[in-house]
Amino acid sequence: MRDVATQFSTADVTIRPVTRSELPRVFELNRLSFGRSRGGLAAGTDRPGLARWGAFGRRGELLASVADQRQSHYFGGRAVHAAGVTDLAVGPEYRGRGLGRRLLTRLLAEAHSRGAAISTLFPTLPALHRRLGWETTGSLTWYTLPAAALAGLRPAPDTRIREATTEDLPALARLYQRIAAQGNGLVERAGPGIGAVPRLPAGFVAVADGVESAAAVDTIGVAAAATDDAAASEGTIAADGITVVEGPDGDPEGYAVWTRGTGWGATARLTVHDLIATTRRAHLTLGAFLGGWAGGTPVLALRLEEPDSLRRLLPAGDLRVESEEPWMLRLVDVRAAVAARGWPPHLSCGLAMEIQDSVCPWNAGLRTLVLHEGSAILDTASSARIRIDIGGLAVLYAGGSRAATLRRCGLLTGGDAQDDAMIDAVFAGPRPTVLDRF
Ligand SMILES: CC(C)(COP(=O)(O)OP(=O)(O)OC[C@H]1O[C@@H](n2cnc3c(N)ncnc32)[C@H](O)[C@@H]1OP(=O)(O)O)[C@@H](O)C(=O)NCCC(=O)NCCS
Repeated sequence: MRDVATQFSTADVTIRPVTRSELPRVFELNRLSFGRSRGGLAAGTDRPGLARWGAFGRRGELLASVADQRQSHYFGGRAVHAAGVTDLAVGPEYRGRGLGRRLLTRLLAEAHSRGAAISTLFPTLPALHRRLGWETTGSLTWYTLPAAALAGLRPAPDTRIREATTEDLPALARLYQRIAAQGNGLVERAGPGIGAVPRLPAGFVAVADGVESAAAVDTIGVAAAATDDAAASEGTIAADGITVVEGPDGDPEGYAVWTRGTGWGATARLTVHDLIATTRRAHLTLGAFLGGWAGGTPVLALRLEEPDSLRRLLPAGDLRVESEEPWMLRLVDVRAAVAARGWPPHLSCGLAMEIQDSVCPWNAGLRTLVLHEGSAILDTASSARIRIDIGGLAVLYAGGSRAATLRRCGLLTGGDAQDDAMIDAVFAGPRPTVLDRF
């Protein structure tokens, strides 16, 4: 039975952490909002690593809630502490009265206090988050490819391909981290926040050597889920296999995590959740492995952080975007965010700007971004030619846009072409992305 506030007034609302005994009410609100079951979670337990906040009415009734998940994302080669926002839900009767805004504003203040430098989320309503300083920076992208497009590839002769065992998992985790650190936005699957909890942002229940090993599986950034229902409710997937490619010295150089869908015929699919290759030869051998499915499983669905490396191996066929799920970034503490990420190592310069942030006022004001030998600090400034909205700065921070594009969106004003050239050099890519649904 849901709470129903008969005399709801915004002045009566208290925002505070959700207690254990209130979890069932939060889960029911989430079920109504997102259609998710909580199968697999024992009573009184929650996904680890989440701090849940609730908005309560005068009689203690739950009106709305949101959760902050500790995680880190790579930017410029370094992992940056983040508040991953999830499960924002306002009771159907109480929407449109400012509760969503109040909860998110509180979450930002709390995230700031606990030392999160940035915040990330997958929006269902970008307008709401944009008003509060998040901006769309990248997407989680699934591609499709006919398996026949890879059938012409041959495994590289100096590689060996085999099924993974649980002993491989730490090495495979390192391969992912190596790739993730080369990009912008990718989740640090074994980072301090995530490493401290068994649940990770997205992933799989892997069965290696016939034994489901939650602890080991966590080391490659996959989620432990007790049942398929739990897996489905958490957005996790039961993988059928993890395939490893070793180089000539026996060290893993790449892997694929995959699930064979049901059915046979033109639409039968192999879903490839991770395709990680750190060398060309590993790429070729994994490509040939995927091409080997062409007979009975002609469709490959691939979650890729960087499509071009696979595209450049294709002897034929077309890699097409099947779905794109945008994610948004906010700078919770600009100073900390600037200090935490890596920067272009050969640039030494100062960029003065006026940052506009009405929701997190500690970020606002005249600042100079000072770069030196791959690191940066944010200093106070006495004047600035450019003005930038906090959402626009998030897009730049992620490597997600050129200055000219931000100007066209109204997120950057002032200054001239010289300033834009410096902005483009300071905030040069790689293009932000993620592989995990959090
Ligand atoms: C989306 C949701 C969380 C919004 O909460 P809410 O309490 O109704 O939103 P608020 O009243 O605080 O509105 C906050 C801002 O977003 C804007 N907004 C809210 N709903 C909107 C909509 N459907 N379209 C456009 N803007 C919207 C408001 O205009 C407001 O802007 P303002 O503060 O500048 O005036 C709520 O409708 C909900 O729970 N929906 C179902 C679950 C869901 O979709 N969750 C979102 C996960 S990202």
